[in-house]
Amino acid sequence: MSTLVIVGAQWGDEAKGKIVDVLGSQARIVVRYSGGNNAGHTVIVGQERFTFHLIPSGILHKDTVSILGGGMVICPKGLIEELQRTRSMRSELGAMMISAAAHVVFPYHRLLDQLEEEARGHNKIGTTSRGIGPAYQDKVARIGIRMGELVRPERFETRFREVLTVKNRLLQMFGHPPLEFEALFSEFSGYADQLREFVTDTEPVLQDAIQRGERVLFEGAQGTFLDLDQGTYPFVTSSYPTAGGACIGSGIGPRAIDSVLGVCKAYTTRVGSGPFCTELDNEIGQQIRDQGNEYGTTTGRGRRCGWLDLVALRQSCRINSLSGLVVTRLDVLRNIPELQVCTGYRLNGSVINHLPSDIDDLAAVEPVYETLQGWEEDLQSCRSLEDLPRSTRIYLDFIEHYTKTPTAILSIGPEREETIVLRRDLIWSH
Ligand code: IMP
Repeated sequence: MSTLVIVGAQWGDEAKGKIVDVLGSQARIVVRYSGGNNAGHTVIVGQERFTFHLIPSGILHKDTVSILGGGMVICPKGLIEELQRTRSMRSELGAMMISAAAHVVFPYHRLLDQLEEEARGHNKIGTTSRGIGPAYQDKVARIGIRMGELVRPERFETRFREVLTVKNRLLQMFGHPPLEFEALFSEFSGYADQLREFVTDTEPVLQDAIQRGERVLFEGAQGTFLDLDQGTYPFVTSSYPTAGGACIGSGIGPRAIDSVLGVCKAYTTRVGSGPFCTELDNEIGQQIRDQGNEYGTTTGRGRRCGWLDLVALRQSCRINSLSGLVVTRLDVLRNIPELQVCTGYRLNGSVINHLPSDIDDLAAVEPVYETLQGWEEDLQSCRSLEDLPRSTRIYLDFIEHYTKTPTAILSIGPEREETIVLRRDLIWSH
């Protein structure tokens, strides 16, 4: 058995795409287990830049099978465009399978996402407007349409007619005109024709591969604190990006997981609304945004940037049972003379070391900082721990010591080569 889950250990955008690409080349199967095209994973290979929103980054490896798991919500048009774009850049791609249990995102989900956000006014979540929340709402309400149904013409017609009637009533309550059945049915039947060959029951495929001892990589999307239950609710996404979500969203049991790596930036970012106690709404925040090109892959929004929050990271290590950390974007912290890291939260006169579950308490916490020395050197040419400046190594030691979690991999630039593997034993069991 050799199964590895890669999760975002913060609020998403931790550069998981690059890490999944690097490790995906060593895996037989890469599975995306949650979310939809709210995610944006970037992979840079030489002069080429690939952006994936739905397809697992493993598709770039011709001997790797990429699975879109049952925990996902899929926009068929987005998926077809992504596939065409990737094919136009690469003639040889790995095989792809779509779980018949994954749910379909329809235009009414997108519309409702926008209408619900407008209705929230000042309390808006700052969603990606991709219809993700409303698609998961339908799944939980048991009126969602699955990929397996989309590709069965008669079944799809019956289900779509029934659901669209309900959704049109809802749209009209928001003052939006109803959507027309015929045009949408024909559009989505066209998508079904293009995707039918990929849709199957993926759970047995995975179980067989695991039984045979093949390497399977579970690719998380978003991040731990955007998890519907473990995140900063209500400023979260509607799925389970945490390691537990890998089981729910792909159909494996918890004992089938050998290793879990948590990808974290050397600082913190988040997009959308919600408390962020180490946020730097100042020149240093802007410096990090500029040096790290911290603009969303999916929405283009400038990301909120701040100091590394070790309280959150340690909690993430616990929630995900992390075997090891992957610390990314170390290179971005260059030329900041002093770096601060948050080691506690002050709340109502005491210092706590966990994220309070109440959102108002979380918004009220004040960070307790330790100050560490920064570095001026360009890290991108470093290829081993010894190549790193002393202050960078001290920064990394501090993270390991505080989180009590070893660092398995360092990323010091966007290219595949700009990766330093420190602990191979934490990645694959064989
Ligand atoms: P939704 O997933 O579009 O419903 O958005 C809910 C929240 O999750 C918003 O704050 C989004 O900005 C955030 N979010 C969703 N996907 C990502 C991601 O891939 N990276 C970072 N934030 C995300």
